[in-house]
Amino acid sequence: MPTPSAPSSPSPDSWWRAAAIYQLYVRSFADGDGDGIGDLAGARAHLPYLAALGIDAIWFNPWYPSPMADAGYDISDYRSIDPVFGTLDDADALIDQAHAHGIKIIIDVVPNHASDRHPWFVAALAAGPGSVERSRFWFRPGRGADGSLPPNNWQSIFGGPAWTRVVEADGSPGEWYLHLFAPEQPDFNWGSADVRRDFEDVLRFWFGRGVDGIRIDSAALLCKDAALPDVTGDEQPGPAHPYMDRDEVHAIYQSWRAVADSYSTVNLGGRMLIGEVWLPDGSRLARYVGPGELHTVFNFPYLNCPWDAAALRQVIDSTLALAEAPATWVLSNHDVDRVVSRYGRPDTAFDLDRRPYFHSLPVDLALGTRRARAAALLTMALPGAIYIYQGEELGLGEVQDIPDELRQDPIWARTHGADPGRDGSRVPLPWSGTEPPFGFSPVGAAAAPWLPQPKEWRDLTVAAETAHPESMLQLYRQALRIRGSAPALGDGGMSWQPSPDGVLAFDRADARDAGVPSVSVRCVANLSAGPVALPPDASVLLVSGPLDDGLLPPDTTAWLRIG
Ligand code: GLC
Repeated sequence: MPTPSAPSSPSPDSWWRAAAIYQLYVRSFADGDGDGIGDLAGARAHLPYLAALGIDAIWFNPWYPSPMADAGYDISDYRSIDPVFGTLDDADALIDQAHAHGIKIIIDVVPNHASDRHPWFVAALAAGPGSVERSRFWFRPGRGADGSLPPNNWQSIFGGPAWTRVVEADGSPGEWYLHLFAPEQPDFNWGSADVRRDFEDVLRFWFGRGVDGIRIDSAALLCKDAALPDVTGDEQPGPAHPYMDRDEVHAIYQSWRAVADSYSTVNLGGRMLIGEVWLPDGSRLARYVGPGELHTVFNFPYLNCPWDAAALRQVIDSTLALAEAPATWVLSNHDVDRVVSRYGRPDTAFDLDRRPYFHSLPVDLALGTRRARAAALLTMALPGAIYIYQGEELGLGEVQDIPDELRQDPIWARTHGADPGRDGSRVPLPWSGTEPPFGFSPVGAAAAPWLPQPKEWRDLTVAAETAHPESMLQLYRQALRIRGSAPALGDGGMSWQPSPDGVLAFDRADARDAGVPSVSVRCVANLSAGPVALPPDASVLLVSGPLDDGLLPPDTTAWLRIG
């Protein structure tokens, strides 16, 4: 096991600047033991698949012990593995095996809130008002003569009030506690020195086991205004909440960065911190990636952007203008609708707060798939790191017809079905065969996959797509192989090229040998309604769909070799 070096040592290897990072949603990736839920044994068994896909790192969604009120984002022990996923030994073996394949491991840490079964919260309930135990969370007396009204008017991001009242040890109605998400996810009070110390220790625990990076859940929400003022109008709920996104958080991330840097060694590479920061105004992202803070943040403006050349160009430019951090490019994750469905709708944007509207729109899957292929090549040509959410490489669509009684996302229950929630992007992966469980679970499995798989996925299994040269999987494999080997792609600069309306064209130059004539890659993405000509002196490296008489058809992207 690695030991920390001197605290101030710089990161010797900024692998995250250009990495292709695969998001592995463990409960839906592969089921090793036949209980219908994905696990670490399943993930280990498919590491060769990921190595062959050509990714550099895996981000694991939470794998810790959890009552699963929010699919593992309600953690009861930050230093272990949930038995449904395996053991700490499995995690150690997985980290080692991944490293042997040259793949880094990023894990999710959830600092904004714990599970209501976390020992600290259980102790807080028992200890009563005014105790040190309660000071680690946000307990407050209620308003009104008998305290029966919540302490303020904040709403939960998952729907309903952000406060729940407890019953005190003597059976009387007691204080209220704050939960920005489900009631089973009480928010930590980051004003507590115990909380700050314990999380640094959690980072050391995992970095010490060889983990290469941490994805920080809800990274902008940690620090609240201790006065907990009411909000007005449409200020709530959400990440842009006026009483969060506060300056205090920067001292916390500076100390996390010092911990990460202290584990960075020349042999093992740098340890990375990436924040999940949903802020509508991308310019505020710079606050989180200042010197000595987070290395990078997820690019949600890119994910939310419609399939529109001018809008995408604007997001790309503003992303690259954030000089403090390497860019990340994200098309999907476990919280949003899958990309082929989004791009197949008449409105191709996305917004977490308007999921019911997007689900009410018709989906043209063939169109969405063509655009998703074009988007994949556009995304992989941009300078920076890319995130691929499992199943994106297979072109899986959002499953919108999950029977109500099988839905598990707390958003569904807390909005009384008004918001379908996120289950449709979390359906277990199809690996092989012609009917469910499509190789997700072993033969003779005791249980069906935890969410039902559409029968149409028989054409989208890894096995079926491997056999099909034009499949989404083959496109991802080829693109990742070229991206990994062409020095012009990945990290570096880009230069926009003149192009007709609705077309994005840019060059990536090999910047290694300044002054030496070098090979550039040009990316041309046609988002216009008609075909466009390609430059006469270019040779095609890869194209997301067939050319039409030498022209690049609509909703198609080409990678060209120039010079
Ligand atoms: C983040 C996660 C999401 C989770 C929420 C609460 O947004 O990505 O899945 O429900 O935080 O932890």
